[in-house]
Amino acid sequence: KLVYIMNGPNLNLLGKRQPEIYGHDTLEDVEKNCAEIAKENGFDVKMLQSNYEGQIVDWIHQAREEAAAIIINPAAFTHYSIAILDALNTFEGPVIEVHISQVHKRESFRHHSYVSHRSDAVMAGFGVHGYTLATRHVATLI
Ligand code: DQA
Repeated sequence: KLVYIMNGPNLNLLGKRQPEIYGHDTLEDVEKNCAEIAKENGFDVKMLQSNYEGQIVDWIHQAREEAAAIIINPAAFTHYSIAILDALNTFEGPVIEVHISQVHKRESFRHHSYVSHRSDAVMAGFGVHGYTLATRHVATLI
């Protein structure tokens, strides 16, 4: 089985981008840690990142064909993308939403998530551990 770990805009800079908020680990580090947990549990992960909303929508459509679950950090798209919400609503497996930072402690524009209307679980404020915890949780669901 395959689980998509999808990431929205600016997360290609993870590790370099505002490390006081997002930490020093890169997306490659996150991929390595999640792949290890997935392997222990008999599935694979596919790590994806795009700065483009349409690309994320296309990948969600692709997930319909090949993914058993989606772990997604939609980054800023969280707060305004109805297109990503609509795409996730076409996906039948579990959807876990991850935010590295504790978004509810930050600016009010980060408090609302369109994606949460679909998400089966939400992680916020666990740093990059949010991804590994989500991967462990997904192992119990698929
Ligand atoms: C984020 C939180 C969002 O508000 C922000 O736009 C991001 C990252 C997080 O992981 O904490 O880019 O999703």
